[in-house]
Amino acid sequence: MRKPIIAANWKMNLTSSETESYLKTFLLEIGDEIDTEIVIIPPFTALFKASEHLSASASTKLGAQNMSQHRSGAFTGEISAAMLRELFVRYVVLGHSERRQLFGETDEIINQKLHAAHDATLKPIFCVGETLAERDAGQVEAVLSRQLHAGLAGMGEKEIHEIVVAYEPVWAIGTGRNATPAQAQEAHAFIRKQLAEIAGQNVADRVRIQYGGSVKTSNAAELLAQPDIDGALVGGASLDPRDFAEIVKSARAAKAG
Ligand code: 13P
Repeated sequence: MRKPIIAANWKMNLTSSETESYLKTFLLEIGDEIDTEIVIIPPFTALFKASEHLSASASTKLGAQNMSQHRSGAFTGEISAAMLRELFVRYVVLGHSERRQLFGETDEIINQKLHAAHDATLKPIFCVGETLAERDAGQVEAVLSRQLHAGLAGMGEKEIHEIVVAYEPVWAIGTGRNATPAQAQEAHAFIRKQLAEIAGQNVADRVRIQYGGSVKTSNAAELLAQPDIDGALVGGASLDPRDFAEIVKSARAAKAG
């Protein structure tokens, strides 16, 4: 019912020319994959090159790692939703924990960005997740609930239906220590329950929830086999086109049962 969505968040890695050789390899590896939606999320400087290579692909779409909440104006160094749209960007990652922690993005700013993305018909990949201290203090549900309610404030069913949520426990990002399938499933089920409270069961049943945090070729299948895990947001392991293609293929196999 929910089409799996596997995304490659390259973070601050790969230049424009490296993107070209990556995509040539990746598209050959992946072939005519249509059961799974794939999103490549390069740095801004590689979006144009990536869009040239992905324009003919039915399955593989383009995403951006961030954008401004403002439409235009005196915001040196910022990128607007309209600028991304013109490069055929379809998805935008919002609320990533690195943006929250290193660049001071608050729930309120993330909420503004979610609205701005919707206005520009970009689909947000909206990241939520607790830190290790919050998990140890038994606050996982409180943190997820706060991030979801604040992030989605003022959004209607139609807008929320378009969103992909990514559960990314901060302690699992870049650490090699992924959440166990059971831990991830528990958090995903809770997120879906919150979405039902916010936007109704019908919308909650349709929103895709990705898991992110040390996803790699060796653990993708068991994570994706969980009923409420609809995809993956992959950082480090997505930097190798063959590894990322293998993750996409194992996701397809896991979801096919
Ligand atoms: P890693 O896969 O490197 O842990 O990163 C996860 C992530 O932050 C994806 O957005």
